[in-house]
Amino acid sequence: MTLTPEQERLVRSTWETVAKIQDDAARLFYGRLFEIDPSTRALFASVDMAKQGEKFMRTITTTVAKLECPDILLPGLEALGRRHAGYGTKEGHYESVGAALFCGRWGKFWARSSRTMPKKRGPRPTRR
Ligand code: HEM
Repeated sequence: MTLTPEQERLVRSTWETVAKIQDDAARLFYGRLFEIDPSTRALFASVDMAKQGEKFMRTITTTVAKLECPDILLPGLEALGRRHAGYGTKEGHYESVGAALFCGRWGKFWARSSRTMPKKRGPRPTRR
């Protein structure tokens, strides 16, 4: 997926805003995810959610920082997708994660960037 310089700028400025409140943002995000799709809650039953929030935010921060280098990003993201198959993640869960990311306070920022995004999706976990 290739982004235009304008799309890259929008993603970066949007994420900068979210990253400033990343602990709260992560808490809000998982809270919304569990509301939108209660089936996701069980996957995190024995997970330290504060640590999980940090990992999730760190991954997105790294991805946003290297947006212009998909060759560097893709192997790591593909490996992350494969690990998720082992966590019990199903394809439909990604829709729920998208919905949780795009609603509420950060939704309005993300919406601006995503409106101009190509429709092609990123790597998916291997289906079992
Ligand atoms: C934007 C998409 C996503 C990102 C960036 C992301 C990021 C991460 C990261 C960084 C980890 C830490 C473990 C690792 O590196 O393998 C993780 C673990 C996990 N994620 Fe995701 N994830 C995403 C989507 C999802 C979805 C859709 C689900 C399903 C509801 C999910 C469920 C889990 C679970 C169950 C764990 C394991 C926690 C544990 O057992 O410690 N993730 N995720």
